[in-house]
Amino acid sequence: MFASIATFALEGIDSREVSVEVDVRRGLPVFTIVGLPDPAVREARERVRAALLNSGLEFPLKRMTANLAPADVRKAGPSFDLALAVAVLAASGQIARDGLGEWAVCGELSLSGVLRPVRGALAMSLGARRGGFRRLIVPTANAAEAALVEGVEVSGVQSLARIVELMAGRWRPEPPVPLRSTGPEPEADEPDLADVRGQADAKRALELAAAGGHNLLMVGPPGVGKTMLACRLPGILPRPSLDEAVEITRVQSVAGLADGGLARRRPFRAPHHTISASGLVGGGATPRPGEITLAHHGVLFLDELAEFSRAALEALRQPLETRRVLVSRGQTSIAFPAHTQLVAASNACPCARLRHECTCTEADHARYARKLSGPLLDRIDLVCRLEAPPPSELTDEAEALPESRAIRRRVELARERQRSRSRADAASNAAMGTLATRRHALLSVGARTHLRERQELAPLGARGHDRVLKLARTIADLDQRAEVSVDDVDEALGFRLGGGSARRAA
Ligand SMILES: Nc1ncnc2c1ncn2[C@@H]1O[C@H](COP(=O)(O)OP(=O)(O)O)[C@@H](O)[C@H]1O
Ligand SMILES: [Mg+2]
Repeated sequence: MFASIATFALEGIDSREVSVEVDVRRGLPVFTIVGLPDPAVREARERVRAALLNSGLEFPLKRMTANLAPADVRKAGPSFDLALAVAVLAASGQIARDGLGEWAVCGELSLSGVLRPVRGALAMSLGARRGGFRRLIVPTANAAEAALVEGVEVSGVQSLARIVELMAGRWRPEPPVPLRSTGPEPEADEPDLADVRGQADAKRALELAAAGGHNLLMVGPPGVGKTMLACRLPGILPRPSLDEAVEITRVQSVAGLADGGLARRRPFRAPHHTISASGLVGGGATPRPGEITLAHHGVLFLDELAEFSRAALEALRQPLETRRVLVSRGQTSIAFPAHTQLVAASNACPCARLRHECTCTEADHARYARKLSGPLLDRIDLVCRLEAPPPSELTDEAEALPESRAIRRRVELARERQRSRSRADAASNAAMGTLATRRHALLSVGARTHLRERQELAPLGARGHDRVLKLARTIADLDQRAEVSVDDVDEALGFRLGGGSARRAA
């Protein structure tokens, strides 16, 4: 007899439907799996056998062939166990074959028949809806996550024995509750910007970065608050929209980082500077997302930027521009999303001392300068130089009032303007293409002349010019102004050249 059931293979953060077909006929007892399975899938034979027997079910001593179709989709990992077991049960007459077409299943089996959670349950549930399946069976631990998708009836099941009862209509699990709104308010435990004394320029830069999604580099001596400032960016970023939250959760789920609920805050990833290029952008035989994808719709923070390997920094260039990573595997390539904001911090030189105590050689300085001015800098709209704050600012006894909440409100209003102006594909100024930038920048006559004059003194290049326009656009948006003024252009140019906020200096 023959039976088939649907399950899913992960590809990037998407899922591909896979049909598991099992044929059972008289002959020597063998169980072969064909259709591009990786070793973990081939081992499924042993898990399926033990799980069936330990659940009081029959493992047919016949000639069994399983085929995973389509053959060109690579099947990796143990999430195919359950589909194999269900197809064996149906092909050997232990569960009914009719109506099997409306189910999709996924899950790893333990030898005892207990179902173990899988990575990517949300992507699989989205796949089930796309494929028109009415019902989806997942391990209990994945149920809340899979149930975030509307239009699919999700059953969270603990064991193989229960599945037989469920599919025979003798039992139904409690419907899972999608975790859309549990846990503390995202900002509850976020550190506040008020903790940082002084550094008004850097705070302004951080607010602009948040408001327009711009990449930011902070350069300055150690102990002036660069790391502190960066860690306070998530507290002023706009909260993720529902669509963004679903995408963040999908990424986390595929990476095995999801906690079962819908992500309520943007990710903040701060990998150590010893990370490899593939750790940063993703890769491997079974492609895994890198840090830039784990930071999708959030922040990738590279502290001590100049200490990262050249190869790692080079690898970031393209994804920062295209906002996705293509990992090639054989003839095909898999896309991972990388709508990520880069924040970097660095000392100006390797000895990391204040300028007058610096012990670095010329060569050291040159090496750092090369790293910090390399191709990556081209992707950074905001460069901010920090100095040690005057002692009076640090010792100021006055209790600092919280700042982050008010800044987030301003940032959200600024993003609102950006969204209503452009389509959803460029929800921030930083993500605008060249055409959109020209169309939306709306410089006043004075600002246009001013920019031209400044360009004649110090050419910016085409890319630099666009970046100044985008940042100036954000400055006006934060102020709720339709037109970009001379001052906006000046301030944007100041950050471009690393001089800090001209407006504040004035
Ligand atoms: N501007 C500041 N306001 C308040 N505390 C600061 C400031 N700058 C530094 N500190 C203190 O010094 C510590 C180190 O700061 P950090 O952000 O790591 O500096 P950096 O990254 O620039 O080397 C912080 O944990 C904080 O206690
Ligand atoms: Mg630091």
